[in-house]
Amino acid sequence: MTYCARTDPGLCSEEVYTRETPYPDGMLLDMHVHSCHSIDSMTDIGAIVRTWQKRRILSLVCDHDSIEGSRRVYGEIRRYEPDIPLLLAEEITTEEGEIIGAFLTEEIPPGLSAAETLDRIQDQGAVSIVPHPFCTFRSTAIRREVLQECIGRIDVVEGYNARSPVPEENEMAQAYARGCSKPVSVGSDAHIPVELGRTYARLPPFEGPKDFVRAVSAAEIVFQKTHPAVHSVSRMVKSAKRAVGDEQSSIRPRRRAALPEWPGIVKTLL
Ligand SMILES: [Fe+2]
Repeated sequence: MTYCARTDPGLCSEEVYTRETPYPDGMLLDMHVHSCHSIDSMTDIGAIVRTWQKRRILSLVCDHDSIEGSRRVYGEIRRYEPDIPLLLAEEITTEEGEIIGAFLTEEIPPGLSAAETLDRIQDQGAVSIVPHPFCTFRSTAIRREVLQECIGRIDVVEGYNARSPVPEENEMAQAYARGCSKPVSVGSDAHIPVELGRTYARLPPFEGPKDFVRAVSAAEIVFQKTHPAVHSVSRMVKSAKRAVGDEQSSIRPRRRAALPEWPGIVKTLL
């Protein structure tokens, strides 16, 4: 695995990859992205599709407890390029912390134990990824003793999370993965459009979920840490959705909305 420092420091570079197709020659994949189907994200489907159109960077869309965002993104992309694999994914809230399922065929409900969630992922022939395993900032990171119990059944450890505020926690994840001989993934954990296209893996060609794990272990990493201020935006989006409701995230309003629709409040600040 190779680490690459990007030379373009801008938030949203206009750099365009000119290759006709990212597949089967290989794939640029941001392995952790949220869409508006997550309670704390306001990134619309079109923004994720445009990142692929302009930059040839695909997104593993893993919304909190929903595969609908990934279904919509890949439905759109595959209309233009049917050879792109259908990468349905979800960041599943287990009783013991979050686990990402990739190459899913069906949504997995939240609230199961980590072991039951891994059973469901395996039953679908899908791939399990543990996101931000040593992050102390997020209360949703998997519990360490549970990670230790389950590591034999986990396919990939996220070693580069652009939203992790403490760099040492990413380094711990990389060292842990090395110690367990697990491949390391890289994700922006993007919740707002400006985070898209800054962090990704350059994967060699692969065929199906199991071969994907092999491809991740051979990937080249392009990583840019995100400014911690983005967490405030996510919290604001979450509060706004809870206050006024949001159909895409299946959030009912907490009270009769006295506020204008949340996108109007939030978008003006971005
Ligand atoms: Fe996430």
